[in-house]
Amino acid sequence: MNIVGSYPKTRLRRLRKSKWLRNLISETSISTNDLILPIFIREGKNKIESIKSMPGIKRYSLDKLSSILNQVRKYKIPTVALFPYTPNSKKDKQGTEALNPNNLVCRGIKLVKKKFPEIGVMCDVALDPYTSHGHDGVIISNKIDNDQTIKILVKQALLQARMGCDIIAPSDMMDGRIGKIRQELDRNNFKDVSILSYAVKYASNFYGPFRDAVGSKSKLKNDKKTYQMDFRNSSEAFREVALDIKEGADMVMVKPGMIYLDIIKQIKNNFKVPVLAYQVSGEYFLIKNAIQKKILKDDSIIESLIAFKRAGACAIVTYFAIDIAKKIKNI
Ligand code: PBG
Repeated sequence: MNIVGSYPKTRLRRLRKSKWLRNLISETSISTNDLILPIFIREGKNKIESIKSMPGIKRYSLDKLSSILNQVRKYKIPTVALFPYTPNSKKDKQGTEALNPNNLVCRGIKLVKKKFPEIGVMCDVALDPYTSHGHDGVIISNKIDNDQTIKILVKQALLQARMGCDIIAPSDMMDGRIGKIRQELDRNNFKDVSILSYAVKYASNFYGPFRDAVGSKSKLKNDKKTYQMDFRNSSEAFREVALDIKEGADMVMVKPGMIYLDIIKQIKNNFKVPVLAYQVSGEYFLIKNAIQKKILKDDSIIESLIAFKRAGACAIVTYFAIDIAKKIKNI
């Protein structure tokens, strides 16, 4: 179908001549409903600290968490993702702290659900904040052991569900973990806790600032290429998504986002499940840094987020959630 007229009868600029007309025919939009804000939490009291590699983003001690959650509420951002900054003294080879019912994330979930019950809470299931080697799983005979790791992840997921987490988000890329987690949640009567699988997570260079933010960067010796996806591949993404849906994932995530829009689009077109995207820390940094240096305009943020929607994402995990929610309100 190719219904194209020709100039001068057809002038595409005719529909661009005023703002209201452009708005009228726009194909994509973004609202605060589409946003998930990642929040970094830390131990201690009265701490709101800057993160060098993530300008504008802070780590909050739990007693200060309300300062950001009040904004989340004010700007009607539906969901937050909590990420813990774990002190070295609490890290070990097995990531034992992940299963401590009184760990930072557990206390964080309880606090949000108590003080801000209307805000959804999403949590990573992965061991990297807790391991002394910075990997997402346990190492046995010099390998990240898939099946032993799953045993721990299942317990981590159950613990987070017990604390009140709404969305369990396995981000570790072990094979078979979605099925096992679903089974364990159901067995414990958490059938309404949903699973957002980081089904398509690439072994990306763009996670650098995040690893700094959660304190795993200096720990990590090698890369994560034996479990996260090879960035040269796209067919493999289909296999990942298909398996995770079969195992019981309610939603799937593509990560990073901006440089993988082709993958988002393909998944959206081929699977009828909600596809989310993660605008990761490296992507955030590039835009934020350029805006601060006045090399890019503020509007670059909305352009970057609309791109996700155009590609087919229903929601976006983004460090820009508050900035953009403020803007959307003003439009
Ligand atoms: C941990 C995890 C990572 C991110 C989210 N969860 C980093 C990694 O896999 O090394 C990255 C987020 C970002 O860069 O913003 N599994």
